[in-house]
Amino acid sequence: MVVAKKWIYAKPFEGLPKDENFRLEEETLPEPGENEFLAEAEFLSVDPYMRPYMASYPAGSVMIGGQVAKVLASRNAQFPVGAYVFGNFGWRTHTLVNPEKGAADSKPYVLPPFGTHPRSLGLGVLGMPGNTAYFGFLELCQPKEGETVVVSGAAGAVGSVVGQIAKIKGCRVVGIAGSDDKCAWLRQLGFDATINYRAVGQDGFGAALKEAVPKGVDCYFDNVGGYISEAVLGQMNLYGRISVCGTISNYNEERAKVADPQREFVFKQLRQEGFIVTRWAKRWMEGIVQNLRWIQEGKLSYQETVTEGFGEMPKAFVSMLTGGNTGKAIVKV
Ligand SMILES: NC(=O)c1ccc[n+]([C@@H]2O[C@H](COP(=O)([O-])OP(=O)(O)OC[C@H]3O[C@@H](n4cnc5c(N)ncnc54)[C@H](OP(=O)(O)O)[C@@H]3O)[C@@H](O)[C@H]2O)c1
Repeated sequence: MVVAKKWIYAKPFEGLPKDENFRLEEETLPEPGENEFLAEAEFLSVDPYMRPYMASYPAGSVMIGGQVAKVLASRNAQFPVGAYVFGNFGWRTHTLVNPEKGAADSKPYVLPPFGTHPRSLGLGVLGMPGNTAYFGFLELCQPKEGETVVVSGAAGAVGSVVGQIAKIKGCRVVGIAGSDDKCAWLRQLGFDATINYRAVGQDGFGAALKEAVPKGVDCYFDNVGGYISEAVLGQMNLYGRISVCGTISNYNEERAKVADPQREFVFKQLRQEGFIVTRWAKRWMEGIVQNLRWIQEGKLSYQETVTEGFGEMPKAFVSMLTGGNTGKAIVKV
């Protein structure tokens, strides 16, 4: 028998999550039944989607989320003892898993070998965020060599990978991020220009963008929404493509009131599409294999912001929502 720790969604979020929204509890787990295995979390992910998605869960639910975990005991041959798995087990240290249960597009899987790279990448560049970048950018933006690509939320888990894939595809890449250090890292990664949106402020953003994209914007990968996206939309070129990945600027705040964009869509003949990455669940390993190959070829770099301790999950979550992370935000148990 194992005693699991789990973080409970104690009270619905209002604005930025606070301590009172979370409660730590314990639960004694029985031995695995037929087809089940017992997983022990090694790394847990804190992701922006947890903020809006929890709104559809009742208070008292376990916080949702992915983790890299070790199989401690098993009665399922596909998940043998000692294997490391990715699973959407929630904010828990130990989980009894029946892989047959749960949604078809969110099944646990044994991590493929990452070579010398850490298993935690299974939560970032070699997991959901990396696949979000790979499929969400390449499938929806269809970038062509020489085109200008703008990425918002560029120094985060998804954005940093999108920008580097755009460079691999021969594009000119402009990244928008919230600090000078983040922008410096993006330029190290090969981004051609960066904008620290917090430094230029909302009023200065349009001018800074115009300077950064002298030939206009062909592809926009949007992680943030709000006034940043309004300004980028105004700089789109004929037949521009916009992949709408996230709108983090309004996860904790009211939606921004922005100008009606329909006119640009008509006269620039733009195409905009939103997506949820599980759309490509059937091609999941393709994204992981390609991103790993690019890492091994030295074309794709990653950074992680690691918080130590399961007890720090809420703190790591809020820090990520407020820009405390560069690259992927993870928690090491
Ligand atoms: N559609 C999908 O399937 C899918 C999958 C994964 C992620 N997403 C979305 O992709 C986006 C990025 O996710 P991620 O996991 O890569 O997170 P992340 O970028 O690693 O972390 C979140 C970042 O958002 C930025 N941010 C916070 N408030 C902001 C604001 N008001 N305006 C602009 N930026 C703000 C912060 O960076 P700064 O310091 O730069 O502000 C923070 O570091 C999110 O919107 C997420 O919901 C969508």
